[in-house]
Amino acid sequence: MPNPPFIVGNWKMHGLSEAVSVAEEIARESRKSTARLAICPPATLLSRLSEALKDAPHIELGGQDCHYEAQGAFTGDISATMLKDAGAGLVLLGHSERRHGHKEPCSQVALKVKAALKAGLEPMICIGETLSERESDRTHEVLRRQLRDSLPAELEGQRFHVSYEPVWAIGTGLIATDDQIRDAFALIGKVLDKRFQGHVVPHLLYGGSVKPDNARHLLSLEGVGGLLVGGASLKAPDFLSIIRSADQT
Ligand code: PGA
Repeated sequence: MPNPPFIVGNWKMHGLSEAVSVAEEIARESRKSTARLAICPPATLLSRLSEALKDAPHIELGGQDCHYEAQGAFTGDISATMLKDAGAGLVLLGHSERRHGHKEPCSQVALKVKAALKAGLEPMICIGETLSERESDRTHEVLRRQLRDSLPAELEGQRFHVSYEPVWAIGTGLIATDDQIRDAFALIGKVLDKRFQGHVVPHLLYGGSVKPDNARHLLSLEGVGGLLVGGASLKAPDFLSIIRSADQT
């Protein structure tokens, strides 16, 4: 049986105490969804959402990043073990806002993936090309390199996810064309198949300006197994509408 679509909300650095009620509304209104659902709130809200949603196990929680060590003198950082302890079951790694905003190289993403697996979290590894890389026809080269260097050998046999997010489509309202998405997913599928020989079937997600009005179409594209949603996951009605799109595919 094919995997149900995986719809993941990435709240980024948004959300104060009031946001707990947004998550509660999402949980209440999505009980009947057949999709797999997760919210990645800021780390400050993880424990509270975990408590607030304890009767809504259909909503999983995730971190947005983690340190590659389990503990230590790393002021301001959060370990995978801590995310797990606070209620997370997955963690986003290598998001473009980490790769570009925090200059995180693939080698560091790979270390974080190992830490996540060790802590019992499912890693969701984000990859994607910048506009200049796409314009200079280097998309395939970039995706291949990110897949090769951000995915450690330890992933063999483990559950993990890969999210393709063209950097130029994140938060911009721009969306990749159907052909660009099909092409990227075909490449990602091929690279992962070759590397893992079909032993693992990761969910492949698309992210970048996913909205209620394009979600259903995106999910209908060959290879797209889910959506990583930023801005549109902050408002319950928008995120619920995206979840309903997944239920219709
Ligand atoms: P966006 O963000 O939906 O606001 O474009 C997506 C992401 O960065 O994961």
